[in-house]
Amino acid sequence: MEKNIVLVGFMGSGKTSVGKRLSVALKREFIDMDDFIEKREGITINEIFAQKGESYFRGLEKELCKRFAKEGGRVIATGGGVIKDKENVENLKKGGVIFYLKSTPEKIAENLKYDNTRPLLKTEDKAAKIAELMAQREPFYNAAKDIEIDVSDKTVTESVQLVLELINNKKETEI
Ligand code: S3P
Repeated sequence: MEKNIVLVGFMGSGKTSVGKRLSVALKREFIDMDDFIEKREGITINEIFAQKGESYFRGLEKELCKRFAKEGGRVIATGGGVIKDKENVENLKKGGVIFYLKSTPEKIAENLKYDNTRPLLKTEDKAAKIAELMAQREPFYNAAKDIEIDVSDKTVTESVQLVLELINNKKETEI
């Protein structure tokens, strides 16, 4: 079975943009977990968090990890918090290779300066919240990753190129 290419990383690190472009380059189906969940529920992530709560959202995320672990061959952009759950990571690893798109809090804050689609960042001091959450999440990303890519100094095109090179060098692992 062809493995999934799974992108993990903090909100605003570029998982969706990189994933979309990768899927085109590799002619694979692209799944953005947040988009998938929004379409399924018929409301936005903000609305899901507000109306149904974060734990409901995490339940949906968990279901998707299970489902996509069983089927390979896709490019999957996960939500930034997916790696907090051990079972999610196990499932994603079963069917895929996990690329961690690593960035800096400063770059993330810049990328998300005008963004209001992330419920967890709806706070007075967005930069401080990003730094706090990133520090908490870092060990989880490190535990989950198979391959790490520093995207803080790269354009989307450069990041895509790098992932493609890494995949080509690892053909023997059937990515
Ligand atoms: C979250 C990240 C978001 C989305 C939700 C929660 C998180 O995805 O799943 O707002 O806990 O980091 P992105 O990483 O695509 O922004």
